[in-house]
Amino acid sequence: MTRRLRLGVNIDHVATIRNARGGDHPDPVRAAEIVARCGGDGITAHLREDRRHIRDEDLARIQAATDLPLNLEMAATEEMLEIALRHKPHAACIVPERREERTTEGGLDAAGQHNRLYPLVQRLSDAGIRVSLFIAPDERQIEAALLLKAPVVELHTGEYAHAVGEERAAELKRLADMAALAAKNGIEPHAGHGLTYENVQPVAAIPQLAELNIGHYLIGEAIFCGLEPAVLKMRELMDAARPSTSSG
Ligand code: PXP
Repeated sequence: MTRRLRLGVNIDHVATIRNARGGDHPDPVRAAEIVARCGGDGITAHLREDRRHIRDEDLARIQAATDLPLNLEMAATEEMLEIALRHKPHAACIVPERREERTTEGGLDAAGQHNRLYPLVQRLSDAGIRVSLFIAPDERQIEAALLLKAPVVELHTGEYAHAVGEERAAELKRLADMAALAAKNGIEPHAGHGLTYENVQPVAAIPQLAELNIGHYLIGEAIFCGLEPAVLKMRELMDAARPSTSSG
């Protein structure tokens, strides 16, 4: 029996629209409340170094507004570490923000930054925060995550999402193989980036995946149909891709 796939909703782009006018509408906290109401499993928010969408004060407000676990996406910096330790989100997903921190596919270069990442992963873990590394679906990066003792990896689905035809099939196989490799080594695999109604189901069908994090497309759809219907439709598609699961 396949486990139910969790849906984390990334609400960053509600804040992008808010910040376009510098005020407080639309409020990402209201989005988090709607996600909680309609069966989302988590809220994902990226506090970027340049604060282009989520702001520092949003984190505590999101945490206060819902009981859903907060997955804080953060760069591997002292500043972000200090913020994470202060807010103690359920999970922290380490993401690359600078070009030199990325692998060719766009994920975190965990393999090339072991010495820098090791103490950071330790300090977050010691504080009870579940650490995830946002990596390309690449064997070298999974091995690096193992050495870093990260309990979770989030596989970057951007290459898959942008590919077409045979190339997409090859990217999907890479995701499936790396999800299996991570799970075999005791690491919980998640996935995200660029997922849409059209491309989510083959990824959702990968049995080892425990969670998908989806943002831009859902917030975009919400403009036309509302956030709740958008989240519910994504949930339905994910469940349909795993026929042995029931939501709830
Ligand atoms: N997962 C991670 C680690 C991300 O940084 C992002 C945002 O880029 C997402 C998931 C969601 O991606 P998208 O907004 O393309 O759905």
